[in-house]
Amino acid sequence: MIQHADFVISSPDVAMCPKSTLPEYAFIGRSNVGKSSLINMLCHNPKLAKTSQKPGKTLLINHFLIDNKWHLVDLPGYGFAQTGQKQREQLRKMIERYCLLREQLVSLFVLVDCRLAPQKIDLEFMTWLGENEVPFAIVFTKADKVGKGRLSENVGAYKQTLLQTWEELPPIFITSAEKGDGETELINYIESINADLGK
Ligand code: GTP
Ligand code: MG
Repeated sequence: MIQHADFVISSPDVAMCPKSTLPEYAFIGRSNVGKSSLINMLCHNPKLAKTSQKPGKTLLINHFLIDNKWHLVDLPGYGFAQTGQKQREQLRKMIERYCLLREQLVSLFVLVDCRLAPQKIDLEFMTWLGENEVPFAIVFTKADKVGKGRLSENVGAYKQTLLQTWEELPPIFITSAEKGDGETELINYIESINADLGK
């Protein structure tokens, strides 16, 4: 479990991100999917990352230092239609540049709402990650909002959809920021990669 989490800096571009060589993991996904809430859940601090009921809250690249060993990064959401075309384009560039140029990035976590059928924008984003050889895992969010049966049906259907284009499934996690589900699994996964990296 995470013992200590500190906000480091908000950056408008990958070029301004911390120069540190610590391994880094970033949360990405559609606006309002629960990226910032999940970071707060994992860090046991509801005020660490700013959250909102309205989409479009996180607009910069936010670095958090975890246990002085690794960085957790909160990214702006993609695909939020009510922000203007210009801002949407700006955010898309910020996210793409971060994914492609951040050498410290070990893995992305693509968050998807467990209540929804696979969304085109998420599948396209994952395809783009694959084409650019950016490693990623999938994190289902808001598991507290559906029953167990519906949850496993939706996750099963999602896997089937992925297997239509992917040979292998990425690591998959099921989480609830509200209930704390998935904390152990996510942290163990990150810590095991850190251990492999000798960090
Ligand atoms: P942007 O920064 O706008 O891209 O959004 P985000 O992905 O960071 O979402 P955020 O964490 O701000 O959460 C959006 C809304 O979903 C908030 O009202 C949260 O309280 C709610 N939410 C997030 N995770 C969960 C969850 O696991 N369960 C429930 N019930 N609500 C959640
Ligand atoms: Mg956010």
